Amino acid sequence: METVVSGIRSTGNLHLGNYYGAIQNFVKMQYEYNCYFFIADLHSLTTHPTPDNLHINVKNVLVEYLAAGIDPERATIYVQSDVPEIAELYLYLNMNAYLGELERSTSFKDKVRAHPDNVNAGLLTYPVLMAADILIHKATKVPVGKDQEQHLEMARTFGNRFNRLYNKEYFPEPYAFNFSQNLVKIPGLDGKGKMGKSEGEGNAIFLSDPPEVIRKKVMRAVTDSGPTAENQAKPDEIQNLFDLMKVVSAPDTIAHFDNLYNTMQIRYGDLKKQLAEDMIIATAPIREKINDIANDAPYLRQVARYGAIKARESAQKTIKEVREIIGFKSF
Ligand code: TRP
Repeated sequence: METVVSGIRSTGNLHLGNYYGAIQNFVKMQYEYNCYFFIADLHSLTTHPTPDNLHINVKNVLVEYLAAGIDPERATIYVQSDVPEIAELYLYLNMNAYLGELERSTSFKDKVRAHPDNVNAGLLTYPVLMAADILIHKATKVPVGKDQEQHLEMARTFGNRFNRLYNKEYFPEPYAFNFSQNLVKIPGLDGKGKMGKSEGEGNAIFLSDPPEVIRKKVMRAVTDSGPTAENQAKPDEIQNLFDLMKVVSAPDTIAHFDNLYNTMQIRYGDLKKQLAEDMIIATAPIREKINDIANDAPYLRQVARYGAIKARESAQKTIKEVREIIGFKSF
């Protein structure tokens, strides 16, 4: 069976973009592949969280993974920092990761532009740590969004380079994987790009948002002053609302508002009200589980421990072989 690895950085609660862009696929894949889903808390250290925040964020992602339907009996769910073998492989891979290629990574360049005062080495070698996450389980399939394509290419480069250096076909090539062919870009509510928590308050709908918060955020979404001609192309901020409808609303609801837009009869308030209600319904089963799971400390402890044991089993096997390949020998 092929091995799947994916992770989400623990920088806050999960939003609809995480859910429809990744987690929904995780849930489907757990029935067909050998899956490892982790919480990338080492990656989150690039932004220097306080110890309390770090822990709360890890817990939130763990709780929300479980509430969204990832089954710890089927998939291996673990916290990245519980598997020190990943950090060890990261060290080895760093020896063959070159400054030039790391500096050319678009995500690195974006981060430098956004936070010029925090250009740390962890940020530069973020793709190496991500490669270690994947290669540690010798995974071939990585369910991630389009924005991670370049990181996957770097993971293949680092794996292949290791293989070539030691003249051994050891690491297989990992590829981005789109399970259900509907790799959707989930837009945010600010009328611009994708949904994300760093794009400002109100741009993202979180799985844990209560209905009244969802209503408030959706009603505040950016719109224009309405179409000025029949069958007009939709500006980005309006298209975004229709794109969000595509994931939570029924096809005839979308057709209804599309028709109103095309005939210049649309009232954005009505569309937003409908969108908010459909979001509330779509996320209800997850929202209802979040509180119960979050309050069940023994269960969370059990899931994290069991996941760490299973993940380490796989990781220790790889690290043992890697050490032998590199030439570490005991006396
Ligand atoms: N970089 C990914 C993101 O921002 C998170 C991530 C870290 C990841 N390590 C990974 C995803 C390994 C897949 C596999 O979304």
